[in-house]
Amino acid sequence: MKICCIGAGYVGGPTMAKIAQKCPDIPVTVVDINSTRINAWKSDELPVFEPGLLDAVKESRGRNLFFSTDVEAGIREADIIFMCLPTPTKTYGEGAGSAADLAYIEMSARQIAEVSHGEKIIVEKSTVPVRTADAIKRILDARKNGCRFQVLSNPEFLAEGTAMTDLENPDRVLIGGERTPDGQRAIDALASVYARWVPRERIITTNLWSSELSKLTANAFLAQRISSINAISALCEATGADVDEVANAIGKDSRIGPKFLRASVGFGGSCFQKDILNLVYLCDFFGLREVADYWRKVVEMNDYQKRRFSRRVVQTLFNTVNNKRIAVLGFAFKKDTNDTRESSAIYVCRDLLEERANLAIYDPEVEAGQIFHDLGQPERQPDGTPSKRISICSDPYEAARDAHAVLILTEWDDFKSGKLDYQRLYDGMMKPAFLFDGRNITNMDELRKIGFQASGIGKG
Ligand code: UDX
Ligand code: UDX
Repeated sequence: MKICCIGAGYVGGPTMAKIAQKCPDIPVTVVDINSTRINAWKSDELPVFEPGLLDAVKESRGRNLFFSTDVEAGIREADIIFMCLPTPTKTYGEGAGSAADLAYIEMSARQIAEVSHGEKIIVEKSTVPVRTADAIKRILDARKNGCRFQVLSNPEFLAEGTAMTDLENPDRVLIGGERTPDGQRAIDALASVYARWVPRERIITTNLWSSELSKLTANAFLAQRISSINAISALCEATGADVDEVANAIGKDSRIGPKFLRASVGFGGSCFQKDILNLVYLCDFFGLREVADYWRKVVEMNDYQKRRFSRRVVQTLFNTVNNKRIAVLGFAFKKDTNDTRESSAIYVCRDLLEERANLAIYDPEVEAGQIFHDLGQPERQPDGTPSKRISICSDPYEAARDAHAVLILTEWDDFKSGKLDYQRLYDGMMKPAFLFDGRNITNMDELRKIGFQASGIGKG
């Protein structure tokens, strides 16, 4: 058996590294049209920052894990082809703003049809709208060159920052396929790969559509919990309650459970918003307006939470941040990743730039160029001197120097009370020194003792 993965990104890279590590006898080739990315995968500077990833890659690279830009050869030689391609929200035409753009998936399916011979199993890993497998299959089957395809849905549930442990020890592996003898054979073949390290009872098989819909539903439920606790955080601020105490109290109810109840400046990442909008589009498409409205609210609440945070900063700083230096600690959408897709920091920073603040940004993993790109700002002014609006700093103390306020936007462990020297941070700042903890990782009492005018999320 040979495996090929199309798409060497946050999903394809770590997933294939784990499969190659666990199945040393199966050659795994990861292909991508982006040669810079592929070269990075061949080096020790991987394009994706993920704890434990480099070790896993090093263990298998050159043995049974290969990276290449030769997409056609990868496809031709493989028995199982994973599609780990982006499925961004459409920005144009019908469904703009909510439907998924399947252009990359379709292009890949056409390429697979074009160059394949014999039998192949195509695995959709990317999150896709329900019934995408059907579209892939129709494209593949339209090419009558005697090739036989089975399409499986095998959604990825790994979370960034914990990808390698999630892959090592998944709550479940979900495989959806056609309920036919050929479909069952394909399901069994893929299940046998995971069964090398995942207990059989955790490998769930369903029909194709249930599998596709389960992925959207799982992400929608997770995001909904965050929007729910964030909604309560606004009420806590109004009433004098503490959202962390509320979350702890309700989380002890075993029916609710303690996870995913951390109030924050809003959820980010490439999946939650996109998948809910996808769900909303599907519901609208099938005329289920009330269901669509219900899920749309989860995204609206998240937008509200981000906006509420930046408004609060401006209001607290005497209603103006014009020309004030604001230190931003953390730009990634969560800790332990260099991924900034849909990061709340982007929205907060944009709001503050609109209010004419000057931003001093520090993140331990995100590259400067990425930050400028996300904020739509040039790194240099027309005369070649560095941007005056945004400076990227090499540590938190530099960012906070002469700043009117510090905003914590990512929950990096290094920003926690006890790790960062908040006294030193305070000493370098303008007074009064404001601190807004968008992740509730600091000890407010200690900060106030130092002299900070500090506030968190949902701390009334
Ligand atoms: C993920 C998931 O796979 C998807 O379900 C989710 O909806 C979005 O993000 P991810 O791995 O995080 O994908 O995306 P990304 O890191 O952007 O990687 C995708 C890769 O595909 C890129 O390296 C890109 O160069 C490559 N690509 C894209 C191709 O090789 N061919 C194409 O035609 C398009
Ligand atoms: C998510 C799903 O968890 C994963 O199963 C799926 O495969 C992809 O989408 P990911 O986006 O990588 O994973 O990270 P996740 O840990 O889910 O966090 C998403 C966002 O929610 C982050 O911005 C995080 O900071 C935020 N979050 C998470 C909260 O604000 N509060 C919480 O309690 C948990």
